[in-house]
Amino acid sequence: MKLTRLGLALSVFSFMQTATSGAPSSSLSSSVADNLLSERVLVLDFGSQFAQLIARRIREQNVYCEIIRHDVSADVILARKPIAIVLSGGPSSVYEDKAPKCDPRIFELGIPILGICYGMQLATQALGGAVESFPSREFGRSRLQIASMEKLFAGFPHEIDVWMSHGDQVRSIPDGFELLASTSTCPFAAVKHHTLPIYGLQFHPEVSHTSLGSTLIHNFLYNIAGCEGKWHLTDFAQRSIEQIRSVVGSDRVICGLSGGVDSSVTAALLYKAIGPQLTCILINNGLLRKDEQAAVISEFTNHFKADLRVVDATERFLATLAGIRDPQEKRLRIGHAFIDCFKAEAEKINGAKFLAQGTLYPDVIESGAAADGPAATIKLHHNVGGLPEQLGFELIEPLRDLFKDEVRKLGVELGLPEHLVWRHPFPGPGLAVRCLGDITPEKLEILRNADEIVVSEIKNANLYRQTSQAFAVLLESQSVGVMGDARTYEKAVAVRCVNTDDFMTADWSHLPYDLLARISTRIINEVRGVNRVCYDISSKPPATIEWE
Ligand code: XMP
Repeated sequence: MKLTRLGLALSVFSFMQTATSGAPSSSLSSSVADNLLSERVLVLDFGSQFAQLIARRIREQNVYCEIIRHDVSADVILARKPIAIVLSGGPSSVYEDKAPKCDPRIFELGIPILGICYGMQLATQALGGAVESFPSREFGRSRLQIASMEKLFAGFPHEIDVWMSHGDQVRSIPDGFELLASTSTCPFAAVKHHTLPIYGLQFHPEVSHTSLGSTLIHNFLYNIAGCEGKWHLTDFAQRSIEQIRSVVGSDRVICGLSGGVDSSVTAALLYKAIGPQLTCILINNGLLRKDEQAAVISEFTNHFKADLRVVDATERFLATLAGIRDPQEKRLRIGHAFIDCFKAEAEKINGAKFLAQGTLYPDVIESGAAADGPAATIKLHHNVGGLPEQLGFELIEPLRDLFKDEVRKLGVELGLPEHLVWRHPFPGPGLAVRCLGDITPEKLEILRNADEIVVSEIKNANLYRQTSQAFAVLLESQSVGVMGDARTYEKAVAVRCVNTDDFMTADWSHLPYDLLARISTRIINEVRGVNRVCYDISSKPPATIEWE
């Protein structure tokens, strides 16, 4: 249900943040990566919730990494010339009939392999070991005793805390394997082959609760796979700029600008590459935050001198939303209006051949369109609304190899200011999904003023970077209050602030009481029409981050 909602919204509105499935994408970004990829690690995804985390941890070690489906053939794998392979965890049991398997020939390639959890069980089973169901599933911290300090555990103490999350475990290791580490409940917590470069871990080094987990990944990459750390965003930026120039030639590129990180970094990269051949379009849908249009324009003009077209389509959006209360219907209408406005503006730009989008690697993975065809289809919530196709553009997606944290670093490399690079995400449908019920200019004005107080107080408390998203929501219900000597009957505002890594799950932020008190006092004193402020203390799941 939720994915549908998000999918719909993402697909239609935030075209700058989404992946395309059918659009004619230029080969630009993959060739940029290919050129930098004398070192590429492949993560074979068996359905792990941590596959992206593994990939990010590897990239943090300056080694490029891609997630691909578990069932690609050994030939396909070889063609991508990986320096190492990681077999991810997964929810299945290797002994079940339909358990996902990899091509067993990968164990004969001589490429270093690290199996994590399910990946370890699969590797040991494939090579003659036995896997069994653990009497009680084990989730959480466990104490690892390390028996061998060789390459994988080089520099480790004898004991560390590790994060376990498994229902099965290896009962017996195949011939040729040896034990590296164990816990009191898991005799084979880390193993390796005597002669082949095959390693297995029952615990999760990618999870921050495993102490020295990053060192372990570093050791696998550098001590075992022989990586040298060739993945650097400075090189990426330089190569990407060269590639953009060669693909675009003397043609014109259009880039939608929202003021968010992804579209800003995309625009910055394009501007560095092709300068005056870039035209950016900012559509003000009337659902932006307080003073946002002016802020985006001034950020933009301070940093690039590219052609910027600003379309104030407030009236059009508010007209199509008038009287609409259903959240899905709101999204649909906003999406259609957006496409119409963008199309009308784009048609005015002569000679434009390309449309640039700030698609990120997680979007590519989630849409199942990752490099080399059969990437893991984790969820299909990013199918695009077909904007490039409708407009007849070729697509340029210079960020499609990057994770969000890499995009932020790239933004800094490109000279974008910190406050822009660290902006919280803002949904495509904007304040419409935070203004419950029907949308009116009066309600939007109240919401904007309350929202501005929430964000500015969190910034003043130096907590903006430590929180992932913070905003106000205008509720529909009214409640009784007393101001001065008079009874009031006014609206309530909810404050929402969450911490999350991936926006698929989130915790409400435990903001200090005095900060909450300041936010509440200021909203009630300064925002006409509000007499009550609540703090949203629901996690996701079961709640979502946005209210609609
Ligand atoms: P939820 O509310 O599903 O939000 O927990 C997860 C993340 O996605 C953002 N979001 C959207 N982004 N269009 C967008 O571009 C949308 O329709 C949309 N709905 C939610 C939300 O702000 C959060 O970051």
